[in-house]
Amino acid sequence: MNFKKRILCIGAGYVGGPTMAIIADKCPDYRVEVVDVNAERIAAWQSADLPIYEPGLDEIVFRNRGKNLFFSTDIEQGIRDSDIIFVSVNTPTKTYGQGAGSAADVQYVEKVARTILACSTSDKIVIEKSTVPVRTAEVMGRILRSGSGNVNFAVLSNPEFLAEGTAVEDLLHPDRVLIGAHDTETGKVALETLAEIYGHWVPADRVVRSNVWSSELAKLVANAFLAQRVSSINSISALCEQTEADVQQVAHAIGLDPRIGSRFLQAGVGFGGSCFRKDILNLAYICGTYGLEAEANYWHQVVTMNDHQQDRFVSNLITALFNTVAGKDIAVFGFAFKADTGDTRDSPAIRVCKQLREEHARLRITDPKAIGNAKLEIPESDEVAYIEDPYEAARGAHALAIMTDWKEYKDLDYERIYQSMEKPATLFDGRNLLDRSALFEIGFNVYSVGRAPLTHF
Ligand code: NAD
Ligand code: UDX
Repeated sequence: MNFKKRILCIGAGYVGGPTMAIIADKCPDYRVEVVDVNAERIAAWQSADLPIYEPGLDEIVFRNRGKNLFFSTDIEQGIRDSDIIFVSVNTPTKTYGQGAGSAADVQYVEKVARTILACSTSDKIVIEKSTVPVRTAEVMGRILRSGSGNVNFAVLSNPEFLAEGTAVEDLLHPDRVLIGAHDTETGKVALETLAEIYGHWVPADRVVRSNVWSSELAKLVANAFLAQRVSSINSISALCEQTEADVQQVAHAIGLDPRIGSRFLQAGVGFGGSCFRKDILNLAYICGTYGLEAEANYWHQVVTMNDHQQDRFVSNLITALFNTVAGKDIAVFGFAFKADTGDTRDSPAIRVCKQLREEHARLRITDPKAIGNAKLEIPESDEVAYIEDPYEAARGAHALAIMTDWKEYKDLDYERIYQSMEKPATLFDGRNLLDRSALFEIGFNVYSVGRAPLTHF
């Protein structure tokens, strides 16, 4: 088949895979190829068992794969053959050298730019899909212009706003698609070429155009604002626990004000995931590099509050279990950083479980999708068991901690769970997921984030 254009995506992760699957599905006239250095990941994308879990993703991949959607490890060939290249590699927090623990590690983005330059024999549009420090497009442009000059490159910024667990829905119905371009003829043509792709399914008024730097920065700022809301309500949850105010009621009351809005006001055990912490730390670091210390400190506090919320959850748990969890079995319900994903990157469960282990608790961890990834974070041992069946995980435990808002956990038979546990049986709802009055009536002592505990004695 003659394709209108050939799209390549470098990086077959949580963003590259789903985003390209949707583009392939909506643009049958384009050829879409996803490449990665990780051969195992590519093999999984080619198999019946995809490397990531996202509701609705399997069927979209299966119906387009081999038609206009391809996965490969041949990055160089992919570059040579493409007209449009999305760069969707990871940009984790740096773990070494200057800025360790806060700056974004942009080495993979730069490597990709160099590979694109080395392999290109025709003009390309290169699109930053990864979340990058503001002004990274300048670095990409300078590298791409450093060749012989026979090939022209246009660099665009097109950050991704999907959330895990709802990636397919978010991609199909985005609030906005942001495209940042340079104000040059090449920039404008590239921008419209990309807008045409999204135009296959995204209403025109949702495609927002800006300069490159605004686009890059807007992505970091969006995540910082979202995370800030979570930390803000979590800070209030601590006050609620002291005053018998109920954080759910407070959130509901303030959320009715359209200037505040009701979303992202769910108090819990803290935010996790691969983006929030990384992007706020990066934003704060960037502020610091421009000498904006007060601004850096302001944003850093969002992360500090998040760590504090997790530490507070553990302290409350230990206090409620008579100041010791040593030798006690604790059932951990959920290890993913949120529901509907198997992703455990920066999950609150990691910090909470590690602290419980330091206190010599024994853990019985269950999760519908994340056990494989969880084992990489906290290895299985005599004291740490991974158990698929939540009823089995709870059996004999002194306490049960809800760490992920899986809807499966709402529908369990808590009477049965209560009967199988040590008494007094205590339930810590880190997500305000369950009907706490019903649990209390069954016999549990119930501790929910941001609400006064319900205890029998
Ligand atoms: P990921 O780690 O799941 O995937 C990145 C992939 O890039 C990996 O498979 C890695 O092997 C590959 N890669 C790295 N260097 C490469 C190279 N030189 N050549 C080819 N492949 C290479 O990461 P992700 O979660 O998909 O995130 C990718 C980017 O998107 C990050 O910048 C992230 O901040 C951003 N983002 C992520 C999300 C999310 O929900 N995960 C949402 C929006 C934006
Ligand atoms: C986030 C952004 O939402 C998305 O736009 C961006 O592209 C990537 O980062 P993601 O991390 O996948 O997406 O999930 P999100 O739904 O934002 O949740 C992040 C964390 O915050 C989760 O741990 C979640 O449980 C927590 N959270 C979210 C709360 O604790 N309370 C809330 O009210 C909302």
